[in-house]
Amino acid sequence: MMRRPILAANWKMHMDRAEAGDFIAGFLPRVEQASAVDIVIAPPATALDRVGAALEQSSVQLAAQNVNAEAKGAFTGELSPAMLREIGCRYCIVGHSERRALYGETSEGVAAKAAALLGVGIRPIVCVGETLEERETGRTHDVVGAQLAGSLAGITTDQATELVLAYEPVWAIGTGKTATPELAQEVHSFIREHLCGRFASAGNEIRIQYGGSVKPDNVAAIMAQSDIDGALVGGASLEPESFARIVQFDCPENT
Ligand code: 13P
Repeated sequence: MMRRPILAANWKMHMDRAEAGDFIAGFLPRVEQASAVDIVIAPPATALDRVGAALEQSSVQLAAQNVNAEAKGAFTGELSPAMLREIGCRYCIVGHSERRALYGETSEGVAAKAAALLGVGIRPIVCVGETLEERETGRTHDVVGAQLAGSLAGITTDQATELVLAYEPVWAIGTGKTATPELAQEVHSFIREHLCGRFASAGNEIRIQYGGSVKPDNVAAIMAQSDIDGALVGGASLEPESFARIVQFDCPENT
């Protein structure tokens, strides 16, 4: 099964509008040849319009970092799926571990967001991953399995191929401690089995990204694993040169 690789930048709460514009100006000329992969950039909400406009003539796609599952209403500070669609988002990250840990996001809430996004034609990037304590007590599969079951509740088999999963072990995020490719593959394979159990053969078409301290010099080994179809990149996506090398992970001269 050939799944098209998908490399995504999660800028988190970094980059003002001027910095975002400079990034795109520096990034696009470096990736003109990268047509065999999907490239996605998730700026903060304040830079979505600026980055979207700068990406218009390119194949790089815009993503949001969060969404509200409701279509409209009295939800101060929130953005609806249709608002994100209007501004040009094709993808939206949901259930990032930072949102689960810091803002009380639950798998049930993530499922509602994913369904609402699919309803307006935005592909959700659904994040799962265990903490260090959960790993060390042998609960990785239980935790990730429960997150998958909860976060994908209500998604139909017809919609499944629009999904992207991201396995981000919490202990590898922003710590410089990347999971070894073999360790990541072990969990990706577990996720793949879950997806095939849930969505039958469509599970083989769903792309699963790895996230957690992905860098230009480790991305190739990670991408070489059979169930790893992409990367969700934080820190190393903030510099055009670094993220350009990551999306061109298969070009030896770029690593
Ligand atoms: P880092 O690449 O900075 O570890 O962040 C990973 C991440 O959380 C991407 O969503």
